[in-house]
Amino acid sequence: MNQIKKRLALPAIMFALWALNAQAATSDDLAKRLAPVGQVCVQGQECKGMDVAVAAGAGAGGAKNIDDVITKHCNACHGVGLLGAPKIGDTAAWKERADHQGGLDGILAKAITGINAMPPKGTCVDCSDDDLKKAIQKMSGL
Ligand code: HEC
Repeated sequence: MNQIKKRLALPAIMFALWALNAQAATSDDLAKRLAPVGQVCVQGQECKGMDVAVAAGAGAGGAKNIDDVITKHCNACHGVGLLGAPKIGDTAAWKERADHQGGLDGILAKAITGINAMPPKGTCVDCSDDDLKKAIQKMSGL
């Protein structure tokens, strides 16, 4: 009788361990699958990550990494030319705007206040004027 119990107990333990293991693997996978949420910003869609970025950066002060600013704030529209935004790297399109607004500082002023579908500061609420200017220079090549 004892022998039979032992024979049954081992598979039962093995099964319990396997089940635990499977569970762990599942939550690991789940964590991995959940991780990109808030990091990926789908172009043309409402970007939840952008809100987080704005909140996290608020009040941080100091000079910003301009590539980060562009990636987090400007790229959603300027990457693809959404709503008529001049595209990153399309120097001619940026130059034409600059010529109409009295140069780089002119379009900078519009970027600060916002213009039509372009939101004030391009959603980078805690960007300094200098941060914005550098972002514009980098996007436009001017
Ligand atoms: C929600 C979309 C959106 C985001 C985000 C955005 N832009 Fe724009 N931007 C636009 C659109 C649309 C225009 C064209 C507006 C027009 O002339 O009708 C524009 C135009 C501009 C212009 C030209 C202004 C002028 O006088 O012609 C500058 C400079 C600019 N954006 C800078 C930025 C910077 C810098 C960022 C990031 C910090 C940014 N934008 C983020 C949509 C956006």
